[in-house]
Amino acid sequence: MDLEHFVCSLPKAELHVHIEGTLEPEMMFELARRNGVALPWKSVEETRAAYAFTDLQSFLDLYYAGAAALIHERDFFELALAYFERAHADGVVHAELFFDPQTHTARGVAFATVVDGLERACAEAQVRWGISSRLILCFLRHLSEDEGFATLEQALPQLARIHGVGLDSSERGHPPAKFARLFARCRELGLHIVAHAGEEGPPAYIVDALDVLKVERIDHGVRCAEDPALVERLVREQVALTVCPLSNVKLCVFPDLAQHNLKRLLEAGLKVTINSDDPAYFGGYIARNFIDTARALGLSRAQLKRIARNSLEASFVPESLRTPWL
Ligand code: ADE
Ligand code: ZN
Repeated sequence: MDLEHFVCSLPKAELHVHIEGTLEPEMMFELARRNGVALPWKSVEETRAAYAFTDLQSFLDLYYAGAAALIHERDFFELALAYFERAHADGVVHAELFFDPQTHTARGVAFATVVDGLERACAEAQVRWGISSRLILCFLRHLSEDEGFATLEQALPQLARIHGVGLDSSERGHPPAKFARLFARCRELGLHIVAHAGEEGPPAYIVDALDVLKVERIDHGVRCAEDPALVERLVREQVALTVCPLSNVKLCVFPDLAQHNLKRLLEAGLKVTINSDDPAYFGGYIARNFIDTARALGLSRAQLKRIARNSLEASFVPESLRTPWL
C-alpha cells in the first residue's frame, strides 16, 4: 500500500485543530460577501499570497482578520462541516475542536451562536461519517484573566456542550500562570484542561501548564527538548503532546520538516501525536501532516501506527464510551 493510502486508512483522532484555522480563503470570501464584511485582501489569490509568516504573531494577525467573516450560526455550521468532510477523507474517526469565542464575541457575535453552529455540525458529522467529536473552548492569552472569566460566565449556560478549555494566541510574554485562577475554576467545573505551551515559549511554560494549570495534554510542546528533566517527566507521566509539524515550519519554529524534532521525541518515549493546527493557513490537513513528516524524517509504518494510536488513547472520550477503534 502506498504511504497516502496507508496514512488515510489509519484510524486517528485529531486533538489540535482550531476550527477558525480551517477557514479556506474561498469560503472566507463567500461568507464575507454573504455577510457584507470587508476583508483586507482583494481576492482568494491575494489572500493565499499573504500567507508567508515569520512567526506566530504574523500568522495570528491574519487569522483574526479572516475570522471576521464568520457571523451567523450557519457560517459556523458550514465551516465545521467542511472540516469534518476533509477529516473523514483523512481517516479521522474522532476530533476535538478548538474554538476561540473571544474572537467572535468581541465583534458582537453571541457566544451561543458560535456553539449552536459548531454543535450542529458535530451532530451532522456523527450521522454522515460516524465521526465523534468534542468542543474545547480556548481562552486568548493576550487578553486578561478577567476577560477570560467574563467569557467563562457566558459559557456557563452552554457548559453541557463544551468538554474542555484550552489556552491559545500569542505565547511569548503570556505564561500559563497568568490564568491560574481561571483554570482552577474550570477544573472545579469538571472541564478537561489543555494549553498551548512550548510552541514559541520556553520549556518553563510547559512546566507551568502542568503544575499551575494542571493540563492533561500539552499543545505543541516541542521546546520541551531544551530541558532534559522535563522530557524525562513527560515520558514518565505519558503526557500527550499534540504536535503540528506543518504549522511549526510555517511559523518558523523549525527551518524545515527535516529538522523537526518529532522523531527524536517519539523515540525518547514521549506520547507524540500529529495534528493540523490551522490547516487552511499552513498547507495541509492531518493526513498531509502525517505524510510529509513521515517522508522528511523517515518515520516507519510502525511509528505512524503508534502516533495514530497515541491520538486515540489521548482523546477525552471516556473509556466506557469508546467504540472498537478506540
Ligand atoms: N491560534 C490558532 N493557532 C494557534 C497557534 N498555532 N498557536 C497559538 N494560538 C493559535
Ligand atoms: Zn494551535
